[in-house]
Amino acid sequence: MSEPILRVRDLRVEYETPSGPAQAVEDVSFDLAPGEFLAVVGESGCGKSTLLFAIAQLLTYPARLAGGAVLFEGVDFTSLRPEELRARRWRDISVVMQSAMNALNPTLTIGAQLADACRAHTEWPDERIKERSAEVLAMVAIDAVHLKSYPFQLSGGMRQRALIAMALLLEPKLVLMDEPTSALDVVAQRSLMKQVATLRQSLGFAVIFVTHDMSVVAHHSDRLAVMYAGEIVELGPTGEVFHRPEHPYAKGLMEAFPSLRGELQPLLGIAGNPPSLVNPPAGCLFAARCSFANDQCRTVHPELVDYGDRAVRCHLVAESRA
Ligand SMILES: Nc1ncnc2c1ncn2[C@@H]1O[C@H](COP(=O)(O)OP(=O)(O)O)[C@@H](O)[C@H]1O
Ligand SMILES: [Mg+2]
Repeated sequence: MSEPILRVRDLRVEYETPSGPAQAVEDVSFDLAPGEFLAVVGESGCGKSTLLFAIAQLLTYPARLAGGAVLFEGVDFTSLRPEELRARRWRDISVVMQSAMNALNPTLTIGAQLADACRAHTEWPDERIKERSAEVLAMVAIDAVHLKSYPFQLSGGMRQRALIAMALLLEPKLVLMDEPTSALDVVAQRSLMKQVATLRQSLGFAVIFVTHDMSVVAHHSDRLAVMYAGEIVELGPTGEVFHRPEHPYAKGLMEAFPSLRGELQPLLGIAGNPPSLVNPPAGCLFAARCSFANDQCRTVHPELVDYGDRAVRCHLVAESRA
């Protein structure tokens, strides 16, 4: 792997709650190569959004960074001052939020919002701003006439694409995407994914894309990280993890999705619920739902072990690979 553009190390995030701190992201570490597309999947509440916010240093109360480092091109974002971070966000790392309706300002035209972002981060003259704004809209197949449109005048799919255009405005090297397709119908989801993949190839930015829906990223991502209860439980090349998952939770998750060829398969949901994040159990966080769990699983917390081709957090996998 070439020199990583991003190294996430032992990242931990807690939410302050009336019953004590909830560990929403626990001990997350991974590297991202320049131009790489990493998908992060897991059921709702497993910490995907919190992880993205922690990487972009956008956490706000009651969330708190409890430990770890986020090294972007060697610079630790967790130690930057707010004004240094502001200068780097959008330029180096940009974020596409889950809801376009919340992320866009309803009272400003798309053109005015693109111009605001340019003025906040560059010294470009108005002509250049207009030119670049039309250019990024064209990248996501939106006609420049919509520079004059308000968000409510665009369809859901167009609004989501406008957000992606904003994220690409200053040619960032890394784009973080939080379920950008989840509000769209299946056809619009597929077309948006295809556009993101094509843009990534032509512009060369890296992507971290979080979703609860495997089928969205199965075709387009290089690597897949499966999260459970705030932890990465399996990480490896997408095809490998998708077709030959090793962690029992990843197995259940992959079986819950129709195959890549679109054949219908029975949905084998995983019985039970994720553990409390305030008082997590001592052993493996998945043990209570795992039909293979033994005494060690219930008492000793497993580490994410790197086997070279992939990393898995499971005692049973460690045993069978030994
Ligand atoms: N404001 C909050 N206060 C307390 N707990 C929170 C808050 N926001 C999120 N959480 C908890 O953090 C965990 C991770 O949430 P989140 O990152 O939104 O998950 P995901 O994006 O995977 O659905 C969840 O269990 C959720 O209950
Ligand atoms: Mg989320």
